[in-house]
Amino acid sequence: MKHEPENLTLAHDEPPTSRTDKGVGSGPLLGGLEATCEDCMALMARYPDKHFDLAIVDPPYGAGDAFNFRYSKLYPNAAPGPEYFAELFRVSKHQIIWGGNYFPLPCSRCWTIWEKGNPAPNFSDFEMAWMSFDKVSKMVKIPSWGAMHADGKTIHPTQKPVALYRELLETYAKPGQRILDTHLGSGSHAIAAHYFGAHLTACEIDPDYFAAAMARIKRETAQQTLFT
Ligand SMILES: C[S@@+](CC[C@H](N)C(=O)[O-])C[C@H]1O[C@@H](n2cnc3c(N)ncnc32)[C@H](O)[C@@H]1O
Repeated sequence: MKHEPENLTLAHDEPPTSRTDKGVGSGPLLGGLEATCEDCMALMARYPDKHFDLAIVDPPYGAGDAFNFRYSKLYPNAAPGPEYFAELFRVSKHQIIWGGNYFPLPCSRCWTIWEKGNPAPNFSDFEMAWMSFDKVSKMVKIPSWGAMHADGKTIHPTQKPVALYRELLETYAKPGQRILDTHLGSGSHAIAAHYFGAHLTACEIDPDYFAAAMARIKRETAQQTLFT
C-alpha cells in the first residue's frame, strides 16, 4: 500500500539560519513537517545515506505492555531489531535514541537522563536517551505531566512533553537541519521542531495515533499565522 505523505507544508523556502526566540508559539522561524502513516523501515528505505543531520527516535522499548488505560488501546510494542538500527545509522549523521538502555548500542559517554518527577512509586523516576555525540551527559528535569493538554489528558500512552523535545533540539540541533523521527506517536516532537525551525520527517505506524497526532499538530502550530 502506498502512503502519501501528509505534508503540513510549514517549511520555509529558505532554511532559517538563526533562531531568535525559544518560546513555543512566539518564534518567527518555523520548520517544516513531512509525516506519513507507515512502517519506519519503509520510510528509511527511501532515503540516501546520511540524509538526515539528526535522528531523534523513541521506539517501543519492548518492556511489558504499553497499555493506555484511558483509551483502552495497545500500540505496536515490539522492540526494533538490528535491521532497524542499521537503517537508522545509515540514513542519519547523529542519533538520539530514547530507551537506549534497552537496546544493544555502542558505548557512549553522552546520555540524556530525563528526570520525570513521577509522583507514583510504580512508575520510573527517569528515562534514558543514548546519544551519538562525543559530549558530556546531561540531566533534564521536566515533569511528565507536562505532556498533558489543558484538559489534563494526553492522546498517546507514552506521550513525551513538547518541552523535552525542545530541550534536545536546542542542545543538539540547529535550525534548518533535517531531523528524522521514526516513531512519531503523539506528535510532541513535530510541535517542538516546528517552532525550533528544523525540518522534521516522521512516521507513525498506527493510523489512529497518526490521525490524532496530525490533528494535534495542526491545532498546536496554528499560532504561526500570527507571525507570518
Ligand atoms: C514510545 S511510542 C512514541 C511516543 C512519542 N515519543 C510521543 O512523545 O508521543 C512508539 C510509537 O511507535 C509506533 N510504532 C511502533 N512500531 C512502529 C514502526 N515499525 N514504524 C513506525 N511506528 C511504529 C507506535 O505505534 C507508537 O506510537
